[in-house]
Amino acid sequence: MLGIIGGSGLYDIEGLTIEGEERILTPYGEPSDNYIIASYKGKKVVFLPRHGRGHKYPPHLINYRANLWGFRKLGVDRILSISAVGGIRQTFEPGDFVLADQFLDFTKVRPVTFYEGIYTIKDETDDKNDLVKEYIQNERVVHIDMTQPFCPAMRTILAKIFEEKKITYHPSGVYAATEGPRLETSAEIVALTRLGADMVGMTLVPEIVLARELAMHFASINVITNLAAGITGNRLTSDEVIEMMKEKTDQIKQVILSFIENLPDKLECECDKVLEGAAI
Ligand code: HPA
Repeated sequence: MLGIIGGSGLYDIEGLTIEGEERILTPYGEPSDNYIIASYKGKKVVFLPRHGRGHKYPPHLINYRANLWGFRKLGVDRILSISAVGGIRQTFEPGDFVLADQFLDFTKVRPVTFYEGIYTIKDETDDKNDLVKEYIQNERVVHIDMTQPFCPAMRTILAKIFEEKKITYHPSGVYAATEGPRLETSAEIVALTRLGADMVGMTLVPEIVLARELAMHFASINVITNLAAGITGNRLTSDEVIEMMKEKTDQIKQVILSFIENLPDKLECECDKVLEGAAI
């Protein structure tokens, strides 16, 4: 089943048929909000606003582990994540969409793994029978491959949708994840540019890392809401981020609905095998 994570300015998805809400408690604490159980053209999906409805949680205090564990409990095995980002690459314009294909991690204070060896937090109610459960129960230390972090099959489907709908998008981009909640200095953006970053945001990591630790497929749609610090010389505001997300809501909705419709039962990729041989 598909899980959709909404970012700043995206707290629900018009067009889905809402079937109910689930409050899920996890051994890692509370997820950002109730999960919205919905369907579209006969396909069931689960939606969660990353910051909670009303935008309660700043990026560094989002309980990413609880969010991903809750999705697992609901039977989600693939995640579509939507985020607002600042544009760095010269050809990225505000309002463009970018499908991330790599990330750079500059976060600092977030729990980054489910697999903590002898400190592992266990979920005795976990009813799955897979490597995740085995590794957690046996307190294993796990190093997952991140060579190609994003699901290539999901990215291909998304690219086709953007092409068909003639929405301006970039098929790849390196996402630099900063700790926040403050925005970056101009010098940091210059440094990130030299390091190969194409866009900057505060939430992709550890979200994708934790999803991958649960052997989920993960794709990330990013909306360039502003040019990153120092590029235009203007002061950056949250107002412009939310305004741009509002402006793009209709296109985001169209892409999500089409994605749900076009997502096959079986994805042709290796994402679900990432845990094989990953534990010590
Ligand atoms: N920096 C970090 N996060 C962001 C930005 C930015 O410029 N815009 C939207 N999210």
